[in-house]
Amino acid sequence: MRLLMIPGPASPDHRVLLAMSRRVINHRGPEFKRLLEEIQEKLKYVFQTKNPVVILTSSGTGGMEFAVGNVVGDGDVVLIPSMGFFCDRFARIVESYGGRVSWIPVEWGFPVKPDMVEEAFKKESNVKAILLVHNETSTGVLVRDLPEISRIAHEHGALVIVDAISSLGGIDLPVDRWGIDACVTGSQKCIAAPPGLALVSVSERFVEEAKRKKTRSLYFDLEAYLDYMEKGQTPYTPSVPLFYALDEALKMIVEEGLEARIRRHRKCSEAFYKAVEALGLEVYPREPEYRSVTVIAIKVPKGVEAEELRKVMSEKYGVVIGGGHGRLKGLIVRIGCMGNVSAYEVLATVNALESSLAELGYRIEEPGRALAEAGKAL
Ligand SMILES: Cc1ncc(COP(=O)(O)O)c(C=O)c1O
Repeated sequence: MRLLMIPGPASPDHRVLLAMSRRVINHRGPEFKRLLEEIQEKLKYVFQTKNPVVILTSSGTGGMEFAVGNVVGDGDVVLIPSMGFFCDRFARIVESYGGRVSWIPVEWGFPVKPDMVEEAFKKESNVKAILLVHNETSTGVLVRDLPEISRIAHEHGALVIVDAISSLGGIDLPVDRWGIDACVTGSQKCIAAPPGLALVSVSERFVEEAKRKKTRSLYFDLEAYLDYMEKGQTPYTPSVPLFYALDEALKMIVEEGLEARIRRHRKCSEAFYKAVEALGLEVYPREPEYRSVTVIAIKVPKGVEAEELRKVMSEKYGVVIGGGHGRLKGLIVRIGCMGNVSAYEVLATVNALESSLAELGYRIEEPGRALAEAGKAL
């Protein structure tokens, strides 16, 4: 068995996996209605919202498409900061619905900042929405100024659509307080259910805008999901086993408490960063205060091949970590710090990282210090 430390999917707990072995029920019957209501209540807690959270049987990208396609149409202008691979994905979705992307130029490895957003709104009028990736999984950068950016966007009459696929449930994101109109996450990251469900909260204003839009997708039509939600159903056949798993994963979040969960994620990430520093490695995000909590992106040191490092870690030490996406392939490796992550996973990963680096010829100044530093932080 290998320890899965990629930046999602995270490893679901046994309780969650077992929940999927229950029998399949009628998705148009009272049992499913009850299940949906229970899930909905817990989702509102995790999203910190009073608004409905739509559940789609699709991966996270389906949730991004849902959030864009219900409000963006022909000729609509949308602002997107160019922070990484998943920002590019948002742009491709916008274009596929006929919208025009107005980029906010941001170098990979940096976050978008409020002044850049102000500037972008000065250049474009009638902006329909700003699309933000809260935690850029490809670069390990967290947009910490989201509340301020959201406020600026609302002042200019734009909707705020957030991809929180690798953050919600592990990093604080009070959706209502920060005025997020549509917040998207996936079942497989910080919530630690298996992959296959996308979850999208929608504000009143978002719903109104969606109702005004004439052309819509069939599978991703918001109104259909809201109408069926009233009946305790989904418009199309849901993945019932995944709904059971999501319910169980959410129960675990409620039992732990959202605040405690967020604290645990933070502590584990601090331990990772301390270890990385002790190994003399560089993290990819250029500004320390914008480093992600859930994705630790590390530059591969000179003389070491990223793929070799990942291979040794996986095959010899049983720890699977991620590589770089797109233009960062070969330059960085990424460690997932999400879901059920605890001291055990952190220390096993740090140990595997140090041992593999040493085996590949990287000089460790003080062997064992990374583990000691991580241990102290935990
Ligand atoms: C920030 C972000 N957005 C979007 C996605 C795409 O999600 P999925 O692969 O579930 O479609 C991911 C997946 O890694 C992600 O991390």
